[in-house]
Amino acid sequence: MEDTKSAGVTNIDAVELAPEGDAVIIIDQTLLPNEVKHIELRERQQMFDAIKLLKVRGAPAIGVCAGYCYYVLARGYAGKVSNGAELAGAMHEDKEFLNSSRPTAVNLSWALNRMEEAAKARADEPASDVLAALRDEAVAIHQEDLKMSEEISRLGASLIKDGDGVLTHCNAGPLACLGYGTGQGPLFYAHDHGKEVHVFADETRPLLQGARLTSYELSRAGIDVTLICDNMASIVMKNGWVQACMVGCDRVAMNGDAANKIGTSGVAILAKHYGIPFYVLGPTSTIDRNCPTGDDITIELRDPDEIRTMWYAKPMALPEVKCYNPSFDVTDHTLISAIVTEKGICYPPFEQSLAALFE
Ligand code: MRU
Repeated sequence: MEDTKSAGVTNIDAVELAPEGDAVIIIDQTLLPNEVKHIELRERQQMFDAIKLLKVRGAPAIGVCAGYCYYVLARGYAGKVSNGAELAGAMHEDKEFLNSSRPTAVNLSWALNRMEEAAKARADEPASDVLAALRDEAVAIHQEDLKMSEEISRLGASLIKDGDGVLTHCNAGPLACLGYGTGQGPLFYAHDHGKEVHVFADETRPLLQGARLTSYELSRAGIDVTLICDNMASIVMKNGWVQACMVGCDRVAMNGDAANKIGTSGVAILAKHYGIPFYVLGPTSTIDRNCPTGDDITIELRDPDEIRTMWYAKPMALPEVKCYNPSFDVTDHTLISAIVTEKGICYPPFEQSLAALFE
């Protein structure tokens, strides 16, 4: 990637393969912004936990991590099997186990299936050759991810004018996607290409990805960012400070309904009220061709203690109080102005524009 103003942030090594190939190295995102700590994932349970507990998170970064995890685990079987078919068979249970760590972001199953297909496609080749091909496949997923992130950011930046205020939700920047990012990628791209942007970052309850990660990344890149609580989005829109909303996505249905971090659909409803364009940005790997509408998207439910106690010195509710903690919601396609992918900007009607991406 070219050396740009944001390079210290957008070149961050959030997910990488250890040089020896025996571990996946990630930045533990749960420790940010207070500590930048790299951890190594070698065993399948560590990998599962890292994804489940959001040490690595953001749909594209989960996909890249999953590709490398598949390769690292496959190394453990390669000496015990003779060919690609047997290697894929030996890996199948591990693959399904990793896939069960989080249900909503389609990039997880997309990357794992791609790795399995790469092994199956070499059914009769010696296991050692197949292993080398799997490493190449995982690296290709990573490289493609960086390219798509740059292209989405370039296209998304074309929707922002110099001096615009942009409201964003959750984290879809370099930590979540590698490279520039998706939902926040245009902000870095615009900044690097001389446009001034003023960003309002929703803190994103309950896990605070907006506060801990987005405001950290933007601030480190020297971009003007103001952190707000989620329930303040309405007032900054009413004040006339927001000219566009930009968010990432975890799974997009073929009618344009888009699952993203809980609270996203509320932002879209507010944006519609105030006549502000609402853009969803994500790679084509996040568009689920097997998913006709948002009703077909599984929404992850998480531990109620994320609401009651996490991030607080003392509990914020009695232990017996019931909590409902869906991790994502689905923004109805009628609220979305455009979906920006690496292959182009899709406008309504999304049934046609999204389908055209795959023709
Ligand atoms: O639960 P998370 O932190 O993995 O949720 C992340 C989001 O919802 C992002 O906005 C989405 O993955 C798009 S990121 C590129």
